[in-house]
Amino acid sequence: MADIRNIVVLTGAGISAESGIDTFRSAGGLWEQHRVEDVATPQAFARDPDLVLRFYDMRRENIQKAQPNAAHAALARLDQHWQGNLLIVTQNVDDLHERAGAQRLIHMHGEHLSAWCLACDGRTRWHAPLFDRPGCPHCGEAALRPDIVWFGEMPYRMDEIDRAISQCDLFVSIGTSGAVYPAAGYVRTARHYGARTLELNLDPSQGSIMFHECRMGRATDLVPAWVDEMLTHQADWL
Ligand code: APR
Repeated sequence: MADIRNIVVLTGAGISAESGIDTFRSAGGLWEQHRVEDVATPQAFARDPDLVLRFYDMRRENIQKAQPNAAHAALARLDQHWQGNLLIVTQNVDDLHERAGAQRLIHMHGEHLSAWCLACDGRTRWHAPLFDRPGCPHCGEAALRPDIVWFGEMPYRMDEIDRAISQCDLFVSIGTSGAVYPAAGYVRTARHYGARTLELNLDPSQGSIMFHECRMGRATDLVPAWVDEMLTHQADWL
């Protein structure tokens, strides 16, 4: 295997599935139970804020009861011990990567535990419901919304992510269906810049054919095994 120094890991709902958090597109997943247009767009929030706030209040409560699993723990171990560059880009809005100990992390689709004030643009760590329209701790206005990137909105920190992908030697995609852009396009970008690409997922994703290698199985099996491999070979590469 060629030398590997810089790694980008993209994660999706599949990595949190074994922690009991619903995925979006599996049978019985969130988007089978709810229409995206009703709960995950700025238009839905303008039309029926009660429905949207209740939906996210429930999800926020659920993630706080969940625990990180062996896959989150393995990525945190990689973060702690990998001496080259590493960036974990998650599409997930739960906090399980950071609770497992990961630090080199970007939440490109926002976070359940953050509230965004539409009056003053301030952001606040938030664990409680938003349905009752609490005041913003910065400006006092009752204008808080979930700090979640909805369909039709721009994901966060795209410049940093693009830069890391253009410089990585290995791009690894874990537990994502490859249905939502721009994340679904990262494998192409990584290949364009010459990176090796690896997919770890339960089923083939929509982008599977783009990867050099695909390993199918549960995240709690595949991710610890892959991290062990990386850390074992690190001494040869760095
Ligand atoms: N281990 C590994 N992979 C799993 C597991 C598991 N235990 N369980 C499910 N998966 C895989 C599924 O096979 C599927 O390919 O995880 C993937 C989850 O896909 P989605 O539900 O589409 O979730 P994701 O790709 O993260 O969605 C992307 O869409 O609506 C949005 O904004 C939301 O960030 C989300 C984005």
